[in-house]
Amino acid sequence: MKNDPLILGIDTSCDETAAAVVQGMRVLSNVISSQVELHRKYGGVVPSVARREHELRIDPVISEALRNASKVLKTRVDFNDLDAIAVTYGPGLAIALEIGIAKAKELALQHDKPLIGVNHMEGHLYSPLALNSKGKGPIEMENVEFPVLSFLLSGGHTELVLLKSHDDKRIIGQTVDDAIGEAFDKVARMLGLGYPGGKVLSDMALKGDPEAFKLPVPMAKDPTLNMSFSGLKTAVYYQVKEIEKQRQLTAQEVVDMSASFERAAINELQIKLKKAIKLYNPKMIMVGGGVSSSARVRAGLRKIARDFSLPIYFPSLKNIYTDNGAMIAIAANFKFHKKEFSDQTLDRQPNLDLAI
Ligand code: KG4
Ligand code: ZN
Repeated sequence: MKNDPLILGIDTSCDETAAAVVQGMRVLSNVISSQVELHRKYGGVVPSVARREHELRIDPVISEALRNASKVLKTRVDFNDLDAIAVTYGPGLAIALEIGIAKAKELALQHDKPLIGVNHMEGHLYSPLALNSKGKGPIEMENVEFPVLSFLLSGGHTELVLLKSHDDKRIIGQTVDDAIGEAFDKVARMLGLGYPGGKVLSDMALKGDPEAFKLPVPMAKDPTLNMSFSGLKTAVYYQVKEIEKQRQLTAQEVVDMSASFERAAINELQIKLKKAIKLYNPKMIMVGGGVSSSARVRAGLRKIARDFSLPIYFPSLKNIYTDNGAMIAIAANFKFHKKEFSDQTLDRQPNLDLAI
């Protein structure tokens, strides 16, 4: 463990300024400065505001990540102690990504350290492998058995990925319209739950009746592994509008609609996960991304895994589901061992794909 590389991971892909220090798969620190309050009044992320905030926050966030890592290791960790500097170069908001990349390049040059460009979705993909500061976690790297089926449930992406090895990743199914997190956020807004409402909606759903409203499971009969969440969102819209012709939704209707929507979305995930397992016969399942912080989403997927007697792993640490620097540094480990380093020409790729 002592010989594992010490990596600083930076992520500025959206509205969180994030930096972390990991040692191998062990997370020593994970600092996230969220801008959510600033963007709330606009009802969404404003890229120019995000960029300015990243600029202001990046240095203090990195310093705190080093300081927190020092506390865990009980010895001062500074830039010279690092083995590499990793940064998200896509996908994400172009002008936000640029800030993290510029900082990582500057630090790599100044301290003569290898630079590692990381795909943000690869970060989410590997987040279940993150270990706590004592080296404990749901699964150790050596115990990963291929093929692995990864299910990524984010605000910008919804993907089923098949890994035959760490070097062979293929997207076998994805959303054809909205990402699941985006649909959660849009439905939350329709229900007056604010921005970003995914978490609030999922908390509301706890108190609601998932059978109260009949909603479609959009791609249930579709033979592919692709998914869709836009039709489901629109179905909620029309039912809400119908009620609002007469009156405001009652508090009970809000929680019931939250529960009904969440149930339909989970059904869609379950159907596609089941289909993917039958088609590809994986040895294990890994899940990542913001939406998997919903306990019911996890329970729904766990049920399918159990039906097939397959192990399923979720991120186990706080602050590792949604955007963070630790998952970027974790993913960078694989590149570090292969010496897949980037140079000073590393550039943002806002639409970077996961497929290799
Ligand atoms: O993976 P993520 O942090 O960012 C992207 O890479 O997109 O996912 C963010 C998404 C947002 O849409 C947010 O509303 C949703 O994850 N989310 C949740 C929960 N927490 C965050 N959705 C459902 N339940 C939650 N508890
Ligand atoms: Zn993300």
